[in-house]
Amino acid sequence: MTLEWKLQQTDGRARAGTLHTAHGTVPTPVFMPVGTAGTVKAMTADAVRSTGARMVLGNTYHLMLRPGAERVARLGGLHRLMDWKGPILTDSGGFQVMSLSGLRKMDEDGVTFQSHVDGSKHRLTPERSVEIQRLLGADVTMCFDECTPFPATHEEAAKSMRLSMRWAARCRTCFEPRDGHGLFGIVQGSTFEDLRAESSAALTGIGFEGYAIGGLAVGEGQEAMFSTLDFTVPMLPASHPRYLMGVGKPSDLLGAVRRGVDMFDCVIPTRSGRMGRAYTARGQINLRNARHAEDDRPLDPDCGCPACRKHSRAYLHHLLKCDEMLGPILLTWHNIQYYQDLMARMRDAILEGRFEAEAALIEAGWAAGDE
Ligand code: GUN
Ligand code: ZN
Repeated sequence: MTLEWKLQQTDGRARAGTLHTAHGTVPTPVFMPVGTAGTVKAMTADAVRSTGARMVLGNTYHLMLRPGAERVARLGGLHRLMDWKGPILTDSGGFQVMSLSGLRKMDEDGVTFQSHVDGSKHRLTPERSVEIQRLLGADVTMCFDECTPFPATHEEAAKSMRLSMRWAARCRTCFEPRDGHGLFGIVQGSTFEDLRAESSAALTGIGFEGYAIGGLAVGEGQEAMFSTLDFTVPMLPASHPRYLMGVGKPSDLLGAVRRGVDMFDCVIPTRSGRMGRAYTARGQINLRNARHAEDDRPLDPDCGCPACRKHSRAYLHHLLKCDEMLGPILLTWHNIQYYQDLMARMRDAILEGRFEAEAALIEAGWAAGDE
């Protein structure tokens, strides 16, 4: 049996389910911390697991450059290499080529690009991307696509989306089915309803184990993202998992779960943690701010992470001010813990048929603020 998702409960458009993979079962809605280069930055795999995270993301682009896909395979695969025993979803590389690499040239067959590390020349095609993801050992392989930049004209978005659909068909053809492993298609089409419909129809016609929504959180703003989800999510089969790529802030997650999305990944909790920004039940807190210098209270009294259980805001502020490594470690830990607690809270509410009531409580906490 390939990878399978089972619906447990719906509440409005929000859904709770379970994703069954070769490396275990994952309750959804799920947030996957980003482990770009074979590590969730600043965290051991056990630390990530301790937050309740059950699935992480890895990147084709980074791992093909360093240490190389064939080398990862010789070392026993990405799970073994990073000591992550749960499922791994890998992104296909197209998005990172566009955002990170130097000179690049796209044609019908694929993309040739320069490494952002040493300027060396590389090529990705749908076939090579799927092969790399197999060598890494991905439980969920993503189709090789082009993330259409925003804003795009209707014509640009249509041309880009149709190329991604031809690539998706090639990915389906070369992906070798294995027990507990699956291939997800990625819907593109920018903020245009007719293009999202054409893309959804193309992908559901081919048939995938899950459907991602790509090309969002690229500068369109939350309102445009939500209205795109309002019309796109119902175009996707209710029987399969839906994954919103690269999203987002806590309020993005809540709004997208409300609209029927099951899976998420984003660098926000890890990246902002390294910069000293914490997400809490009372909104965002910048611990580099001088107002925390003599604050003996915990960052978030309701949080069970080591930063909140063992330390004061004053200590976290001090670590960040001194550029001590423990500062980013503790803040990353806290943010991942907050994201996992938020997802669990939404999931429990869906299962008990009280999603909107819980959402209102969560939003009231953010609005109350920390002062
Ligand atoms: N990450 C965020 N958005 C996208 C997208 O549109 N495609 C891919 N492959 N990855 C993404
Ligand atoms: Zn905490």
